[in-house]
Amino acid sequence: MARPVKKAVFPVAGLGTRSLPATKSIPKEMLTVVDKPVIQYAVEEAREAGIEEFIFVTSRGKTAMEDHFDQHPELYATLERRGKEKELAASKGAELAVSQLTTVRQPEPLGLGHAVWCARHIVGDEPFAVLLPDEVFKAEPSLLAQMVQAYGKVGGNLIAVREVEPALTARYGILDVDSDDGTLASVKGLVEKPKPEVAPSNLSIVGRYILQPEVFAILDRKETGAGDEIQLTDAMAKLIGRQPFHGMRFSGDRYDCGDKAGFVAANVAFALDRDDLAGKVREALSGLI
Ligand code: G1P
Repeated sequence: MARPVKKAVFPVAGLGTRSLPATKSIPKEMLTVVDKPVIQYAVEEAREAGIEEFIFVTSRGKTAMEDHFDQHPELYATLERRGKEKELAASKGAELAVSQLTTVRQPEPLGLGHAVWCARHIVGDEPFAVLLPDEVFKAEPSLLAQMVQAYGKVGGNLIAVREVEPALTARYGILDVDSDDGTLASVKGLVEKPKPEVAPSNLSIVGRYILQPEVFAILDRKETGAGDEIQLTDAMAKLIGRQPFHGMRFSGDRYDCGDKAGFVAANVAFALDRDDLAGKVREALSGLI
């Protein structure tokens, strides 16, 4: 039986250069899609999947995220006094208990693999999830919950995947696939950001992972790859053959909120999903387009 996944790592140390100037003084993960910061979507996705310990790999200037998931007694008291129950519930809904949130710093931007490696002593010797909060998913059940369900059957390492336009492979980690039943693909290789001419497929890694702790020993070697960074994709590739390794297609929509157009699209899509906003937003959009 596959060991349960109870811990999740959120690499949130990046500078957010793709979102400047918005991210000059606030973390990119605090940009809001409608009324919730991007990081909260990832935390809620993980919580729905049964995650109990949330590990943020942060860096300088990123403490707004810890504040966001903390209690806020002055705010709560004011909202209570004013009878603002909905707002109070929304604010408390963003809390993580002290025992649930751990932060660790990534002192230098040496790559995604290095960021994950920085959490090794907190993860310890158990399987864990990695969620890249830039990628926001509208999915039911949540994407990580879908993955945990599939992981219960196949165990090992499991990454969420989606087909991308063949011309765009150089933006993603790409799978080399062995057998494929249309949902689960057995992986025989992984390449980080290959040019279309050399990409083994157009099946891309979308930023959700369930990994076995053996990946840390590989990351320990600090080998660099694409962009001269320590790549998680390269470390994962070395687990293939030693442990089961699958890619999982999923149902739901994906928004790259690190990209300005993707961020705007996410705002529109999530607003159109809300009973209190859909009508007004639709009207405003039809006036524009
Ligand atoms: C990272 C991963 C890449 C993955 C992508 C998904 O790249 O290295 O394999 O496809 O996230 O968003 P980044 O976007 O950080 O360059």
